[in-house]
Amino acid sequence: MLTGVESNRQRNVRFKLSRLLKIGNEKPKKKKKMSVQEYLDKHLLSRKIEDAVNAAVRAKTSDPVLFIANHMKKAVSSVITKVKARQILDSRGIPTVEVDLHTNKGVFRASVPSGDSSGTYEAVELRDGDKGTYLGNSVAKAVKNINEKISEALIGMDPKLQAQIDQAMIDLDKTEKKNELGANAILAVSIAACKAGAAEKEVPLCKHLSDLSGRANMILPVPAFTVLSGGKHASNHFAIQEIMILPVGASRFEEALQWGSETYHHLKAVITEKKDSLGCNVGEDGGLAPDISSLKEGLELVKEAINRTGYNDKIKIAIDVAATNFCIGTKYDLDIKSPNKSGQNFKSADDMIDMYKELCAEYPIVFIEDPFDKEDWEHTKYFSSLGICQVVGDDLLMSNSKRIERAIQELACNALLLKVNQIGTVTEAIEVVKLARDAQWGVVTSHRCGETEDSFISDLSVGLATGVIKAGAPCRGERTMKYNQLLRIEEELGDQAVYAGEDWRQTL
Ligand code: PGA
Ligand code: ZN
Repeated sequence: MLTGVESNRQRNVRFKLSRLLKIGNEKPKKKKKMSVQEYLDKHLLSRKIEDAVNAAVRAKTSDPVLFIANHMKKAVSSVITKVKARQILDSRGIPTVEVDLHTNKGVFRASVPSGDSSGTYEAVELRDGDKGTYLGNSVAKAVKNINEKISEALIGMDPKLQAQIDQAMIDLDKTEKKNELGANAILAVSIAACKAGAAEKEVPLCKHLSDLSGRANMILPVPAFTVLSGGKHASNHFAIQEIMILPVGASRFEEALQWGSETYHHLKAVITEKKDSLGCNVGEDGGLAPDISSLKEGLELVKEAINRTGYNDKIKIAIDVAATNFCIGTKYDLDIKSPNKSGQNFKSADDMIDMYKELCAEYPIVFIEDPFDKEDWEHTKYFSSLGICQVVGDDLLMSNSKRIERAIQELACNALLLKVNQIGTVTEAIEVVKLARDAQWGVVTSHRCGETEDSFISDLSVGLATGVIKAGAPCRGERTMKYNQLLRIEEELGDQAVYAGEDWRQTL
């Protein structure tokens, strides 16, 4: 029906379905079958179709059939109709879970990443453990749990109600760490539902996430590009996991991406000149992996590459030490990956602190991630108290709310590395970010070394305004997926787009 005041002329041209169908007066058949009129009445069909046609006329659309189809589609409220999972491979060639979540409006796909570091406090990644198949890494049980249990529990639910969907899966699982269904199963569905919710609201995914978190402003994060890889991510002899660069002085994300790419390519040239081209082989997250003997040597190479770009002090540096991986008792073995270990490179936690102090004085280091073993709260706390740079807890926190609360109370670190797959649902991820934010912490949204073609974390970082995203090198498809999605988001936000830049820690 047309709304508002209608002129006689408008009333005359108003569309009446019953007139066209000529079926309004049909008598009901004897055997209590539903008559056409009853059917039309039951589904309010005449009114709905009239509404759609009248809306098309009012809009004077050039393609009325398409307009009417869309209008009718909008009138249907969306519900989950099917959840179908499958096993796919991640970027390391290891199985992971992918989900297609169907609503009566479309199909929404999500897949989950997986990492090298795993700990007792994080949600459980369910793997089959049959050594004869994918060396024990297949995820058939997680896939089955989605297809047989989660699917049944979610059918009929409104995809916009993220908290209810996540709670339904938590209730179905019944364990604290999601051991029963698998955090990999639950997270894949949670992310797919989030995408369906955004589509139903007809808003970008980052906006839906921002709404879910109750945040008013969306902010494009500063990318922390991995440029040098070591640790468990590369087969060189470098014990430290990665050196990253942050183009904080760029004016937009697009410019930050350009600077990141340029620095990366300059670094390739620097490594080829100073080491050899073999050093340009890359690690799991795309960082270059020359055989360097010390953190200082790595930082020198990166500094030289930044100098060649000419952006100098506009690009800062960060380090993920991932110190747990080379902590032996109370010592840190910086030669842990060297075949001919001299045994001379064992450092105490105090030696490590001295080294960090020196390096932070010499290079523009803005954050250090996991500077000590994941259980070495005391040294992490002491190092944070020095206020030399931001101290990010990755293995220390495992994105676990109890560990985060403890770290806040004990002032152990001052930033959270957010790995969504260590948590298991979108709702709980939003909650831990709030925890960190309420404590005035920084937040770094993070990929995993085993990534997929899903760019969910890009939207997450914008929607939750985490200030920084760490998604690997500015190369390799599964990494650039995330950065390219941020380009699209920036383009879509247009004049409203805000790049965190120098305020990467204060995106409150
Ligand atoms: P992971 O590494 O995915 O191997 O745990 C990522 C990181 O430590 O930041
Ligand atoms: Zn880390």
